[in-house]
Amino acid sequence: MRLTHVRQLTRPRLDRLFELAELIRGSMRAGDQSFAARLAGRLSGRSAVLAFSQPSTRTFVSCSLAARATGLVCEEMRGSETSSRTKGETELDTFLTLANLADAIILRHHDPGLIERLAYELTRRQMPTRLLNAGSGPDQHPTQALLDVFTLNAHLDLRAASRQITVGMVGDLRRGRAARSLSHMLSQFPNVRQVFIAPDGLHMSGDVTDALDTAGVEWSRTDDLDEMLPSLDAVYMVRLQDEYEIREDEAPVTPVDMRLSPERTAMLPAHACILHPLPRRGELPLEVDDDPRARHWEAVERGKWVRAALLLHQFGCDDPSALSG
Ligand code: NCD
Repeated sequence: MRLTHVRQLTRPRLDRLFELAELIRGSMRAGDQSFAARLAGRLSGRSAVLAFSQPSTRTFVSCSLAARATGLVCEEMRGSETSSRTKGETELDTFLTLANLADAIILRHHDPGLIERLAYELTRRQMPTRLLNAGSGPDQHPTQALLDVFTLNAHLDLRAASRQITVGMVGDLRRGRAARSLSHMLSQFPNVRQVFIAPDGLHMSGDVTDALDTAGVEWSRTDDLDEMLPSLDAVYMVRLQDEYEIREDEAPVTPVDMRLSPERTAMLPAHACILHPLPRRGELPLEVDDDPRARHWEAVERGKWVRAALLLHQFGCDDPSALSG
């Protein structure tokens, strides 16, 4: 399986991945050495290249450790300065080289369309190389959504149809690929309502809200964070994505204070989840880490195991019984 867009992570796939990820997480955290050996046997003899043209702390290390835990041998290419691109190699040739050498390419790239073009080329050439989108410009970040929903589901049980759950996304939603992917993924949970809380100019783009309308998802938008906080079951904070420029012909941004201060967390319900894909700036102050509702560090840890589950799935090696002793 080549994962280029979050839409490919359908509900049956998600349910299966979460179950497998919980199994892996529980056994690995318990230090079960024989489980770790069985996990590392699943993809041994295969390889992955992590090709990242944009900066990364969590996604890079998380994918690398997840891949190694499943037995994949990993190679990395960060930036093109040390590759043959400096000798005139085209980008396509660079990626075809990687695809001829490795069984999987874990790709983060500034060009949002590159991963789809590469997937097309690999299919056309009948190459089996797996692709994993680890961030495509300002567009998609499917594995971040996967770990966010994995974490939310562990605390709020998104699948329980008995009650409506309101998830608020706050900040730069227009350019935040993590929020865009999260919105798509949450649209598969019929009892989840989405509220977009952003300053004018940074609201969720029409392509995402159109998809929500098509899926019949209840959603709304506002710039009033204080008014929304008491009704949120989860709040997802997003930093200003100022590495992507706003063109002069696009709507200007009206500055509004979207900081989740300790005073504001006091307005959230007692059962709420606080999430942030990280890196953070001032929008999620350090003091919030001590709030028992803060789940952003737990999400980082969960991310490694759900990515391991996803890699097993991509290679068709995700039968949980193969991991039991
Ligand atoms: C996110 C990203 O790269 O899109 N970070 C991450 O992968 N955890 C969010 C961000 O950079 O704001």
